[in-house]
Amino acid sequence: MYRTHTCGELRLADAGKTVTLAGWVQRTRDLGGLTFIDLRDRYGITQLGFNMERDKALCEQARQLGREFVVQATGTVKERESKNANIPTGEVELIVTGLKVLNAAQVPPFTIEEETDGGDELRMKYRYLDLRRANVRRNFELRHRMAIEVRNYLSAQHFLEVETPVLIKSTPEGARDFVVPSRMHQGEFYALPQSPQTFKQLLMVAGMDRYFQIVKCFRDEDLRADRQPEFTQIDCEMAFVEQEDILQTFEGLAKHLFKTILGKEFAGPFPRMTFEEAMRRYGCDKPDLRFGMRFESLTAPEDAPQEDLVKGHGFKVFDEAELVVGIKAEGCAHWSRKQTDALIDFVKKPQIGATGIVFVKWTGEGLKSTVDKFYAPEVVQQWAARFGMKQGDLLCIMAGKADKTRKQLNELRLHLGDQLGLRDPWTFSPLWVVDFPLLEQDEESGRWHAMHHPFTSPKPEDAHKLESDPGSVKANAYDLVINGTEIGGGSIRIHDRALQEAMFRVLGFSDADARAKFGFLMDAFEYGAPPHGGAAFGFDRWVALFGGRSDIRECIAFPKNNAGRDVMIDAPSPIDGEQLKELGLEVKG
Ligand code: AMO
Repeated sequence: MYRTHTCGELRLADAGKTVTLAGWVQRTRDLGGLTFIDLRDRYGITQLGFNMERDKALCEQARQLGREFVVQATGTVKERESKNANIPTGEVELIVTGLKVLNAAQVPPFTIEEETDGGDELRMKYRYLDLRRANVRRNFELRHRMAIEVRNYLSAQHFLEVETPVLIKSTPEGARDFVVPSRMHQGEFYALPQSPQTFKQLLMVAGMDRYFQIVKCFRDEDLRADRQPEFTQIDCEMAFVEQEDILQTFEGLAKHLFKTILGKEFAGPFPRMTFEEAMRRYGCDKPDLRFGMRFESLTAPEDAPQEDLVKGHGFKVFDEAELVVGIKAEGCAHWSRKQTDALIDFVKKPQIGATGIVFVKWTGEGLKSTVDKFYAPEVVQQWAARFGMKQGDLLCIMAGKADKTRKQLNELRLHLGDQLGLRDPWTFSPLWVVDFPLLEQDEESGRWHAMHHPFTSPKPEDAHKLESDPGSVKANAYDLVINGTEIGGGSIRIHDRALQEAMFRVLGFSDADARAKFGFLMDAFEYGAPPHGGAAFGFDRWVALFGGRSDIRECIAFPKNNAGRDVMIDAPSPIDGEQLKELGLEVKG
């Protein structure tokens, strides 16, 4: 037996016991006659004590141990003279009588403690060392607990966990596929699933009624802090449901996780917002509602009939703009020129591409704008009234093409939210965004794309416009957004062959192409497909959110770097000529 206890287990009540521990040497402290070692395992840290007087040879052996040596120590538990209130085992130490090195270790490339001096690449290259750090490991304890609670909740709601295949045919979720060449069928390829979408629908045709799976998905797309090429979904589907049933069920899941994992309860239902309102009021389809700063426009857009307050005063930028829109930063009227200039620099960055910001300040001296030359005080007063501005507030106003300006203002809003400390990771603000458009049009090619995916159904009242006026059709589709992160999304599906065929036509598929790619699904619709719908949630994102992390890589044991590489195992990597030959492949260049 290697150990009787773990390194996180011993307490004062164990004093006097003879025990054996095994773990990694985190730190050795040599205080002349005394040597102390912090021994670490997954469960905690226990101090080992050695004394030159008591056992010189053993003490010298202890002094030889390097960081991360794997050792086994036997001894007696004793109350510590100087206690450490920061760790649960801090009241005791182990007076060691026997010490065995189970394995030596090279000096680790970075410090393996709560905080580390290792940079990103180094931590990824030696991820197995990084994972020994308690604050990294805690993400995986959280992930584990969340997976258990997802299963508990869904299982209690009669969902069956069913595995779907990984070697499949393309599923269109908007990214490129990773493909796997077939040896037995040279020249043919499997695709890895971007999601189990078609299979979960087939499980509904199969009468499974309620399906879920915590499942790996693969997407070849540009990577960001919240995107990995392989990631995990909580994937769900239900038969005989309408949108409302689905929102209720998964709001229940979210509430269950909030309660069991974070001890947080939400009194009422989660708020809901239409896609149209989210875009108009926040300039994005996943607004962060932890703070206000709702957009107000000073022009008179069609979607919010109101008086225009800017045109015709000789200020060209506003006169020529399709939209003049702003946000109110409460309590920021005292900001210096340097601070407001920094905001202008921020929106002028090429990634945002705005031309500037007009400011209005309400200080003790009254209202003052950067365009006072053009606008009389009474007009600026009207602006202030539209924003519900109070003394001490600052308005930031932007102008230009409507969609683009709203997107730019969204960036500014989030930036200000960060600057003003309004985006506390431990405050949670969930939201359902509903009534997405079914399709979006590519500006250049004019082609229609499914906004969610091609299996999403139009709202019944819009279905007749699918082929005549695709842009006006709304979908039975919804997203769950928490703190500005899209945690999940789903839709009510098409379960009728003719409608699915029409959808593929609108998306520019020939009938033959649609049949070749999705004939299996449309055939299934002819054998008694029940009405059905579902949703999928980004599990890595959800864990990161609950763990207060901004990068999902922190919650994935062995993630890829931003270039899609696993730098630890060095993948992707070339394969040898023999293997290529077997697959009937040749690499060019
Ligand atoms: P969707 O494409 O919206 O829907 O994906 C669902 C959720 O998965 C997460 N997600 C990702 N997480 C990490 N890295 C990625 N590359 C990544 N891509 C997506 C997001 C997202 O909200 N089959 C549909 C669901 C359905 O209709 O039921 C689907 O996959 O949190």
